[in-house]
Amino acid sequence: MTKKITERASFGSKLGIILATAGSAVGLGNVWRFPYMTGENGGAVFILIYVICVLLLGIPCMISEFIIGRHGQSNTARSFRLLANGTPWALVGYMGVLTGFLIMSYYAVVSGWCLQYIWASLVGHLQGDPEYFKTYFAALSGDPVKPVIWTVVILGMSYLIVEHGIRNGIERASKMMMPTLFILLLIIVAASCLLPDAGKGIEFLFKPDFSKITSDVFLGAVGQAFYSLSLAMGALCTYASYFTKYTNLTKSATQIAVIDCLVAILAGLMIFPAAFSVGISPDSGPSLIFITLPNVFQQAFSAAPFVGYIVSLMFFVLLSLAALTSLMSLHEVATAFFEEEFHTTRKHAAIVVTTTTIVIGAFCSLSLGATDTLTFFGRSLFSWFDFITGQIFLPIVGFLTCIFIGWFVDHQVVRDEFTNWGELRGRFFHLYIFLVKYVCPLAILLIFLHQLGALN
Ligand code: TRP
Repeated sequence: MTKKITERASFGSKLGIILATAGSAVGLGNVWRFPYMTGENGGAVFILIYVICVLLLGIPCMISEFIIGRHGQSNTARSFRLLANGTPWALVGYMGVLTGFLIMSYYAVVSGWCLQYIWASLVGHLQGDPEYFKTYFAALSGDPVKPVIWTVVILGMSYLIVEHGIRNGIERASKMMMPTLFILLLIIVAASCLLPDAGKGIEFLFKPDFSKITSDVFLGAVGQAFYSLSLAMGALCTYASYFTKYTNLTKSATQIAVIDCLVAILAGLMIFPAAFSVGISPDSGPSLIFITLPNVFQQAFSAAPFVGYIVSLMFFVLLSLAALTSLMSLHEVATAFFEEEFHTTRKHAAIVVTTTTIVIGAFCSLSLGATDTLTFFGRSLFSWFDFITGQIFLPIVGFLTCIFIGWFVDHQVVRDEFTNWGELRGRFFHLYIFLVKYVCPLAILLIFLHQLGALN
């Protein structure tokens, strides 16, 4: 067993750790979900609560996953098993892996749409009136073939990266993709904020109207914080197993959370000023980026159509990069699991994961219009996956992880990991334990109950 530990791959540098893990966190959640949630939930107040939730709840949960992963030096299931000492707590790890695997299938479908939109912007298909964008999206997502092909393409890309291992695959790819993503983001933000009347959008994002706080806004923000940081799906735990014993877990978690918030807010600054400048309301929900946004860019830059074309193209490249870095972290969760639990090679494991995901992803995609047979109880397979992973498994795994670390695992083990075996002072250890023991589980329980209530 010692042999296994010394042989285990690890990230090569601190920067690699931050960029790869931030790559997992920064995804469609930041660029797609965050802006429409902000639009629907009153703008600045939502952002304020979201940032507080990330700092107060997100960081402690992230540190807990890091502790479990780095302690276990293995895939999520095995890492939980090691700390669980033969108790059923090990099941939480298996559930994390399963959640990661399921979310990956539908995440791949949406990531595929992003690639399709790059292509569409490139060849000039993203031009027309508002009605056109609606039909374009409906036709794409309901098409039996095209989205499946794009899903296969993006999973193929993710496969190629994951197959190359941690340093040569995931770390190298993150070091190229994340800076590119940042540069594109800043360029689009600048273009959007320079538009006439952009100030109204900026005000919407930064001037809180406290009368808009409701329990929905509050719980929406807690949920968004968890989703956005990639918590409770085995991803952070798996990545942490490739950290070194010198990695400062608290500092890394804080840096990653700050990057994640920053990208989300910049995504808002990319979308809202442009939307307000052409008088389009930003509360159109999930279809915001695929339907409203191409139209917004087209209208906002109507005086210089070429700029509009470039901005729209850059936007979808950015979106695809964000999606791919998250997708590959999910790919890694399942790949590490198969590789280590079934004692096979990384390549084999990655192939099994890719093919299975392609099959499940194809069904998810087909359930969106190509056939009625994949709709159960009025919900398409796609939306079942989204619902079960995001609203059931995520809170359950998140809740149990906090309870596991806060109440079950020996605090000396937790402290050792927290302070790198006494190397660091661990000034915030007591605060961390307090948050993980009481505050985080309670907050997660509240969102869970709220979501179940919203079911009826
Ligand atoms: N955090 C990702 C995003 O913002 C979404 C996500 C949730 C995720 N859980 C994950 C990505 C687990 C990778 C792994 O889009």
